[in-house]
Amino acid sequence: MTEVTREFIEGLPKAELHLHIEGTLEPELKLRLAKRNHVDIGQSTIEEVRKSYQYDDLASFLAVYYPAMNVLQHEQDFYDLAFDYLRRAAANNIRHVEIFFDPQAHTSRGIAFDTVIKGLRRAVVDARALDVDAELIMCFLRDFSKESARKTLIEAMPYKDWILGIGLDSDEHNNPPLKFARQYEDAAAAGLHLTAHCDIDQKDSIEHIRQALEIMGVERLDHGTNIVEDPDLVDFVAKNGIGMTCCPLSNSFVSPVMKGDEIVELLGKGVKVCINSDDPAYFGGYVNDNYRALAKEYKLTREQVVQLARNSFEASWISDEKKALYQAQIDAYVAKH
Ligand code: ADE
Ligand code: ZN
Repeated sequence: MTEVTREFIEGLPKAELHLHIEGTLEPELKLRLAKRNHVDIGQSTIEEVRKSYQYDDLASFLAVYYPAMNVLQHEQDFYDLAFDYLRRAAANNIRHVEIFFDPQAHTSRGIAFDTVIKGLRRAVVDARALDVDAELIMCFLRDFSKESARKTLIEAMPYKDWILGIGLDSDEHNNPPLKFARQYEDAAAAGLHLTAHCDIDQKDSIEHIRQALEIMGVERLDHGTNIVEDPDLVDFVAKNGIGMTCCPLSNSFVSPVMKGDEIVELLGKGVKVCINSDDPAYFGGYVNDNYRALAKEYKLTREQVVQLARNSFEASWISDEKKALYQAQIDAYVAKH
């Protein structure tokens, strides 16, 4: 077995498909924006910000995560947030990224949809200069009403060309995917791709995964590793080429483990499972940190690591031509190392 080195992981071309832009708000930028926008966040040093990061499940994480967004006020703030992340993505050898954003987390506190998307879009365009191919996925907050999701989808329509797909995130407890069945249908009719969070170890995890896959027709599952409890659903995702975007470090914050056994099992069954960073400023690292932690803890082979990177492109929503191009880049990298 060839050892998987830090250098090998760092240089490997990758895609990132599960990344919340609001979750890339590093303490330094948070404090800088708080000052620039005269927003009191209750902390004034990096140490104080870091000390406030106390969570051990999804709900306690979200309780820290949303209030911090108050520092994001102007189009330039959203640009700075996104461009900072995209610089890090380039340094992680991420060639393609599909970025989640949560418009309702901003419109609900009086920031216009327009302000959010214009800042993010400008960063996405500028990322071309970094050789990072970036796209946006708009998420509905599942703990908000379906009427709010409907309004958000209508607001998004003039910007449809800037949005690759829709997703579903936030607190899953008693908020099943089916609550948004109609919005998913409308989004699909508008030509948008579909994905949804099925967070780990939730009440009704399997039922939520089933709804997302069998009723709403999602093309990917975000997290979703509880699927291993249902062999028929595993068979379904393997046969239908459904991508699964896993986030080992994030998992280790909201559960005792990274869910590496499940990831390895799914990989072995031919599921397009891939590795992502979720909310890297809050969960201890970016994509390379996630690959490294998983490879070390679960003693992954080089072949498994390469397959995870291949899957990240295969599960993405780029053209077949682009997929072939990125797979050739991985071939060349593997041959050289
Ligand atoms: N919002 C940001 N990160 C999330 C996650 N991992 N699950 C649900 N909602 C989120
Ligand atoms: Zn997530």
